[in-house]
Amino acid sequence: MAGRAIVGAMSERLIDIVAVPDHPGISRWQAVAPPGFVAGVAGLRPIIPFEHDLLLPAPATQPGAVELSLYVEPQWRRRGIGSRLLAAVGAHAAQQRLVAEVAAGSAGEAFCVRHGFRRTGSRCHDLLTYCDVHHAWLAELVDVEHPGYRLSHWTGDLSDATRVEELLRRPSRPGNAVLSAAEADGDLVAYAVAAVGAMSQRRARQYGPAVLAGHRGRRLGLWVNAALIQRLREVHPHVNEIEARTTEDDPGLLALRRHLGFHRLRRTRLYELALP
Ligand SMILES: CC(C)(COP(=O)(O)OP(=O)(O)OC[C@H]1O[C@@H](n2cnc3c(N)ncnc32)[C@H](O)[C@@H]1OP(=O)(O)O)[C@@H](O)C(=O)NCCC(=O)NCCS
Repeated sequence: MAGRAIVGAMSERLIDIVAVPDHPGISRWQAVAPPGFVAGVAGLRPIIPFEHDLLLPAPATQPGAVELSLYVEPQWRRRGIGSRLLAAVGAHAAQQRLVAEVAAGSAGEAFCVRHGFRRTGSRCHDLLTYCDVHHAWLAELVDVEHPGYRLSHWTGDLSDATRVEELLRRPSRPGNAVLSAAEADGDLVAYAVAAVGAMSQRRARQYGPAVLAGHRGRRLGLWVNAALIQRLREVHPHVNEIEARTTEDDPGLLALRRHLGFHRLRRTRLYELALP
């Protein structure tokens, strides 16, 4: 028993935290134990601009924030590796704030509290499975007339976009995202966006729907969301479920999701760390 503890302590000291090259805009670090075993990883990625778009409710995070992901293999936990990864991230992050999303009561939450992260909100994650969707009913929702409003769609890549209006002005092309929008007199008034991952990932992530103040109460959110669900399947037939996140203080959006057949997947908490 004592021998194992000594070996454990020695190997912890031999662990290196190394930066690993990745996609542009995404930073990653690994905690590498000899002879090359990856005991933990940390990553930073930009927060997708749609979550900050003016159409959406006030975001829980501020611009200049970046999303932190941190994972330590279970057998290597409580040995300071997560803390060392966080220190490496903090030393190299160009942004001023780290945002982490953790399950309530989890090790991740205890870790955030220990490191001085501030709790900024909570989220619901909802899931819609295509096999539960009644397609004729969905088509009826999409076909409902909304006088004065026009439905439009766009497909392409989200990576370099800053605003939804900008996407709609671009020609559609193959890409990782599908956008359904309602326009009135040529102006964008409501939208929902879904982003897909690699072909092996069957779950898409949805943002919105968001409806511009002044156009609410006309079921435009339901309209664009139903249209998105329909369109996404046509463009990316490998996707069989959609995950959507909502801040818990948005009961209207949660009710819309229930109506469309989304069900609760999990709850998470948001934490934020201001870097020195
Ligand atoms: C969260 C996680 C990365 C922590 O990694 P770790 O290497 O175990 O973290 P550390 O050893 O550096 O822990 C630092 C401190 O955090 C707190 N902490 C970490 N895990 C904890 C747990 N399970 N219960 C209570 N406190 C905990 C403790 O204060 C700990 O200090 P101590 O061990 O001296 O008491 C790891 O548990 C993990 O991968 N969890 C799953 C993914 C996750 O939740 N990621 C969080 C995203 S930020």
